[in-house]
Amino acid sequence: MSGHFIAIEGLDGCGSTTQIRLLGERFPHWHRTAEPSQGPAGLLIREALRGDNPLPDSVLPYLFAADRKDHLEREIEPALAQDIHVVTDRYYASSMAYQALIAPLNRIVTLNQDFRSPDLTIFLDIAPEQALERIVARGQAIERFETLEHLREIAAGFGVALALLAEQGERIEVIDATGTQETVHARIIE
Ligand code: TMP
Repeated sequence: MSGHFIAIEGLDGCGSTTQIRLLGERFPHWHRTAEPSQGPAGLLIREALRGDNPLPDSVLPYLFAADRKDHLEREIEPALAQDIHVVTDRYYASSMAYQALIAPLNRIVTLNQDFRSPDLTIFLDIAPEQALERIVARGQAIERFETLEHLREIAAGFGVALALLAEQGERIEVIDATGTQETVHARIIE
C-alpha cells in the first residue's frame, strides 16, 4: 500500500495555495507541500524568481528538476511509503508549462522523466486576465512570470503539457477555478 499523490496545477493567481489549505482543513491527515520546495534548491529558485540572485533563466529547468528530486526523496516518497496521501502545490506539469518558454519541451520532459507520476493532477482553470487581476489584488511583489503576456504563454504551455501527460495515461482533471474559494473547493471535492 502507498498513499496517493495529488498535484494541483494552474497559472499564478489560480488559487492553488488557497485550495491546498482548504483540502488540508478537510483532510488534516494529508501531507501538504509545494514546489519550489523548502529545500536548498527550492530556496535558490525563490531567490531567482524574485531577482535576488543572478541565476539566468536557462538554469531554471535544471534547478526545478534538482529541487523536485530532493523534494521527492526528502518529503514526498517517505510520506507515501507511510500510507499518507500527499498533495503538492505544483509539480512537473508546471515545469512543462513555464520552463518550456525558455527551453525545448522535450528537454524538460527528459529532465523530469524519472520522477514519480502523480496519481491525479488537478488543473485549476482560469483565464490569464483573471489570474493577473488576482495577482494584482494580492498586492505582493510581482514575480518574474507574472505579466499578462507571460500568463497567456504559460496557459498555452499548460494546454500542451496536460494533453501530453493525458496521452501518456496520466489522470488529469480540469476544474473551473472561477467563483468563490468555497465553490472551487466543492468542485474539487466532487
Ligand atoms: P508559487 O509559489 O506562486 O506557485 O510560485 C512558484 C513560481 O514558480 C510560479 O510562478 C511557477 C513557477 N514554477 C516554474 O516555473 N516551474 C516549476 O517547475 C514550478 C514547480 C514552479
